[in-house]
Amino acid sequence: MSAKGIILAGGKGTRLYPMTSIISKQLQPVYDKPMIYYPLATLMLAGIQDILLISTPEDIPRFEALLGDGSRWGISINYCVQERPEGLPQAYLLGESFIDGNQSALILGDNLFYGKLDFFRKGLENTDGGTIFAYRVENPSAYGVVEFDSDYKVVSIEEKPQKPKSNFAIPGLYIFDSDVCELAKSLKPSARGELEITDVHKHYLNQNKLNVVQIGRGIAWLDTGTPENLIEAGTFIMAIEKRQGTKIACLEEIALMQGFISKSEFLNTVDALPNCDYKNYCLKILE
Ligand code: DAU
Repeated sequence: MSAKGIILAGGKGTRLYPMTSIISKQLQPVYDKPMIYYPLATLMLAGIQDILLISTPEDIPRFEALLGDGSRWGISINYCVQERPEGLPQAYLLGESFIDGNQSALILGDNLFYGKLDFFRKGLENTDGGTIFAYRVENPSAYGVVEFDSDYKVVSIEEKPQKPKSNFAIPGLYIFDSDVCELAKSLKPSARGELEITDVHKHYLNQNKLNVVQIGRGIAWLDTGTPENLIEAGTFIMAIEKRQGTKIACLEEIALMQGFISKSEFLNTVDALPNCDYKNYCLKILE
């Protein structure tokens, strides 16, 4: 059975205030699309069609207005309210019935990946236990950090350590078997009052069921948490799109390429778009 996808797109987005005072972080533009398009595209590119989007009570209606039930892209999007941002593993408590005994891939709504996504597709092939990723960054203390020994065996995992033991951050893309739902029930809030995703990682690690895959520098993993990060991500996307004449995270194109929709369904979907650059791009794909 294929994996389920969960996008966690809530939180307060305080670092982007006042932009986030009326609209959530994950609906802010990253160059020419709302941020949420990018993690959604990542799931779709890995073949995932059954998706749960979790967000705040205020923002869920806005996501619904933007994305609908997903049928125009040949996917299914369900929505779930997270009343308070009490930690990433809450996604597994709220999503338990959606996961329904399946493997799931949880992606944070503010994490952007660009490049060949084979690392993700391969991670989904490991259906027993969990797979997380490690990516070299300059500022690891802003993230979950994983330390390896000389044989690339995981030695430690820490959440936002002041003195990181390595430069390998853990991106917000996590693949777990369905045991993660029971595990999430046993977690206790950390000193900052949240359930920590790194506690989930550590539990799987202690059980010898955690696969940590290093993502090479051919992949761009971008974070959009601060105004600076947001501009950097937008500039990055713009540079590639302008240079190649392609669009990154064009959901209509991905749905067609993945075979989620037929050519005539694609045309119907595109026909409904207002006249704009995005629509022209979609029409060009067919030529
Ligand atoms: O970006 C990767 C990092 O994401 C990981 O390396 C860390 O281990 C992980 O804890 C997380 O760190 P952040 O500092 O980015 O977590 P933050 O609390 O900012 O939440 C990440 C996103 O998830 C953010 O867009 C808001 C959303 N969120 C967060 C929480 C805690 C929710 O939707 N609900 C929540 O309860």
